[in-house]
Amino acid sequence: MNALSKSREIKSWTLQDSKDLYGVDNWGRGYFKVKKNGELAALLQGKEEEVEVSLFEIVQGIRDRGIGMPVLLRFEDILHKRISYINTNFMKKMREYNYKGSFRGVYPIKVNQQEQVIEDISSFGERYSHGFEAGSKAELMVALAYVRSKDALIVCNGYKDEEFIDLALYGKKIGLNVFIVIERPGELKTIIARSKKLGIQPNIGLRVKLSSTVGGKWAESAGDLSVFGLTASQILEAIEVLKKDGMIDCLKLLHYHLGSQIPDIKSIRSAVTEACRYYTSIAAEGAPMGYLDIGGGLAVDYDGSKTNFAHSKNYSLSEYCSDVVDVVMGAMDEANIAHPVIVSESGRSLVAYSSVLIFNILDVNNFYSPDLDISLPEDAHELLVNLREVHKSIMVKNLQEMYHDALYYRDDARDMFLTGEIDLKTRGLADQLFWQILLRISQCAKELRFVPEELQDLEKKMVSIYYGNFSVFQSIPDSWAIDQLFPIMPLHRLKEKPSVSAIIADTTCDCDGKIDKFVDLYDVKSFLPLHPFIEDEEYYLGVFLIGAYQETLGDLHNLFGDTHVISIRLDEDDEVIYSKEIDGDSVSDVLSYVEYAPKELVEDFKGMVEKAVRRKLISPNERRDIIKAYEEGMNGYTYFEM
Ligand SMILES: Cc1ncc(COP(=O)(O)O)c(C=O)c1O
Repeated sequence: MNALSKSREIKSWTLQDSKDLYGVDNWGRGYFKVKKNGELAALLQGKEEEVEVSLFEIVQGIRDRGIGMPVLLRFEDILHKRISYINTNFMKKMREYNYKGSFRGVYPIKVNQQEQVIEDISSFGERYSHGFEAGSKAELMVALAYVRSKDALIVCNGYKDEEFIDLALYGKKIGLNVFIVIERPGELKTIIARSKKLGIQPNIGLRVKLSSTVGGKWAESAGDLSVFGLTASQILEAIEVLKKDGMIDCLKLLHYHLGSQIPDIKSIRSAVTEACRYYTSIAAEGAPMGYLDIGGGLAVDYDGSKTNFAHSKNYSLSEYCSDVVDVVMGAMDEANIAHPVIVSESGRSLVAYSSVLIFNILDVNNFYSPDLDISLPEDAHELLVNLREVHKSIMVKNLQEMYHDALYYRDDARDMFLTGEIDLKTRGLADQLFWQILLRISQCAKELRFVPEELQDLEKKMVSIYYGNFSVFQSIPDSWAIDQLFPIMPLHRLKEKPSVSAIIADTTCDCDGKIDKFVDLYDVKSFLPLHPFIEDEEYYLGVFLIGAYQETLGDLHNLFGDTHVISIRLDEDDEVIYSKEIDGDSVSDVLSYVEYAPKELVEDFKGMVEKAVRRKLISPNERRDIIKAYEEGMNGYTYFEM
């Protein structure tokens, strides 16, 4: 491409085109935006106003500090905004409706258990008395140590042994608002026995198995076949047992959890309605109650479409709060029962926005070259001449015919190569011409009003593979495991047209280590438009909205470990500071996770190298270099280092 046509390409593409293409104003919710200089920015709260902080500049700063890619960025400010957002929205709706109860958020630790995140929620959430939900002994220990406000709640879900129950009871004894939620009928006996033994009255909650079910990917958490919660008859039995043991006064909370990422507000409304029926009925049985725990499920709009698609949601937080408060208030007033404290276990919506994975592109594999010179030598094989003729004859009105001709000659090329009629070079050229023809046909097909079915998917077949320096399994496991979509886009060059249709492969050598589904406002895209890769120039992509579940569920596939983590915030002068830095796993770290002893590996390797010296395969000097490389590799990052 000459300089003139390159500048034309830049001029004809606007920032608005990039915004529309990547949908950043839709899924970014005002936390991310495209800057005038073509870089992507995070919007962070400054002293007086919001400050645009270029993610590309942050990456430069990280590079300057000698830190390699990939890196997980945590934006403390975005997490704080999300905590405020959910608390203030509930409080506002309660005021508007004249609701007499209050709101308490409890953060489910499982959604992102990293200490930085928990510490942030604990310290910033203190002003809202935001507490924790613990689903295991280990999580309860975190909750007990990190809860700051005396009014915050700790809700204990999950299967509980005596040790778990004792810890929860001791928590209550030291003045914390710990609730033990019964998930299965057998637990109640142990709770009663332990509370009598320790002489501590528990706060008891019941988890109800609602018959309301939802759409989306986590639908199995609710409904009659869900593994958690008590049925109506089991709830009645539990009430009877509590009455018999003189402990009905301990029954204060009703909990349900419909599943995560509920896309449709109708499901939320019907679940609250059903739960209120249970709540008022349990209160009518003589339990004091006072707390209605609506679980998690508040969805994140990953594709920005505002629909009831599984990766989106068709409601705002304000509508969610309105519906919950409205339904609860109506049901309680009708039953003449005091308005309960509404407890939310929202996790995904709280933490998803604040983490971004950043990685660089290492290389690109194009099946075809868009700039291929298709002039052939005089003595070119007839097959190549025929393919070139097909290429020259392409017109909007003969696309299908040319497509069939190209397929015919491509198959011919394969047969001729097998029988030795053409050599490898001719076969290679035939392939290149074939892809060139397909590229032209797919471009011309865009001008057709009706695109024949066989030409519809051509663009999908023409994708380039961009190799990213990250592991899908470690950093975005839900993308592999459940086809979860996350917004992905370049951090820079947004004034330029992204002219290459690409999929992304990671650095694991697993054919599942790729991303080939991307968010789109109306559909799911099978490729992501990216900028042509320029040799020796860095090209950075960000994967957004990954703060929920991804860090927790990631694994060591191919022994790629945890990435570096850097927390970003603004200082008093609105300057960016890299406030906390956690080194990613080294090779020796990940080896020790899978039961190797790195020191022994070094010793064993030294022994092998020494044998090579004795066999005169290498000199003693070379021995030194080889051992140094092994030791450095052992201490190095598991990802591709530059
Ligand atoms: C009992 C319970 N509460 C809360 C949550 C958090 O849900 P979400 O992340 O959708 O808010 C979960 C996760 O599925 C859960 O199992």
